[in-house]
Amino acid sequence: MTNSFNAMVIEDVDGKPKASIKTLSLNDLPDHDVLVEISHSSLNYKDGLAISGKGRIARRLPMVGGIDLAGTVVESRSDLWKAGDRVVVNGWGLSETEWGGYSRFQRIKPEHLTRLPDAFTPEQSMAIGTAGYTAALCVNALEDWGMIEKQGREVLVTGAAGGVGSVSVALLAARGYNVTASTGRPDSHDYLSKLGASAFVDRAALSEKAGPLQKERWGGAVDSVGSTTLANVLAQTVYGGGVAACGLAGGADLPATVLPHILRNVALLGVDSVMAPANKRERAWKLLAESLDHKLLADMTTVEPMSALPRLADDILAGKTQGRVVIKIDG
Ligand SMILES: NC(=O)c1ccc[n+]([C@@H]2O[C@H](COP(=O)([O-])OP(=O)(O)OC[C@H]3O[C@@H](n4cnc5c(N)ncnc54)[C@H](OP(=O)(O)O)[C@@H]3O)[C@@H](O)[C@H]2O)c1
Repeated sequence: MTNSFNAMVIEDVDGKPKASIKTLSLNDLPDHDVLVEISHSSLNYKDGLAISGKGRIARRLPMVGGIDLAGTVVESRSDLWKAGDRVVVNGWGLSETEWGGYSRFQRIKPEHLTRLPDAFTPEQSMAIGTAGYTAALCVNALEDWGMIEKQGREVLVTGAAGGVGSVSVALLAARGYNVTASTGRPDSHDYLSKLGASAFVDRAALSEKAGPLQKERWGGAVDSVGSTTLANVLAQTVYGGGVAACGLAGGADLPATVLPHILRNVALLGVDSVMAPANKRERAWKLLAESLDHKLLADMTTVEPMSALPRLADDILAGKTQGRVVIKIDG
């Protein structure tokens, strides 16, 4: 086992977080019980904020970036894991309070590891990554609420061409729902049709402020945009429908009223992936294993080296990334 390897490290430079590739040794890693050799990580919106320095994601510096990782256990002081186990980590404070996945090796708390489902290779698991696993949490939240219909009513996905959006479209369509995609990129319609979207809404149509109760259209929705878009989606959801809200790509505010909730029994279902308990994670990965078509997953994925992260961080924050980006860990 090599003792020196590359990692994308975020450091304090003149009072600002700055990311660059550094050489680390095993002695630099935190003293957690499981040493993992990482083959792949991924790019998520939050990684874009952390790597570009445009969002204060790391709560202490220096910090190794990357909220996701997939790899193989090399050494374990925990009974839960042994050398050779294939594992993934999504969230659990990686890149915030815990060193993350943009590194050839990382030491991880045993309770933060999830067994890689047999259905996926490490690369596929990172093509899913936090964005895809969050999409699965959203679909489970909607189905648990129980008020989206398989036939008839449309299920809306906002931010559809992004990571959470792409996997949500593919999962919902595979499960028999009539999926409408909201996107600001008309050139992504063919891509989204292949994933299973059957109709489109221009994202501008949802981003203007409008009335608190509008014409009922959506049987359910997955929203990764927030702000006025989420307010309009709630106002257009049918009696008894549910909206799973997980993101803020359009803003963290929510200029809405209680009317859809108290007059139409509409549920606003908050979804967090970072601290989700193990049982919710297992259910999400089970749903992905059952419902996500591997060919569609490949169609929505590009693979990039760690050195491309600064460019990719700017791209994802500018809404220019389509689908999912896997980061191949090298060096
Ligand atoms: N709650 C959680 O645990 C959790 C987990 C994962 C992600 N998230 C959040 O979910 C959001 C999406 O993450 P992601 O990784 O999927 O990012 P992403 O790949 O960048 O997708 C975001 C999509 O939102 C749309 N968008 C971007 N800027 C917008 C704007 N100003 N107004 C309206 N739409 C806009 C774009 O879709 P179109 O081009 O199709 O319009 C973009 O592709 C982020 O806010 C992220 O922080 C939360």
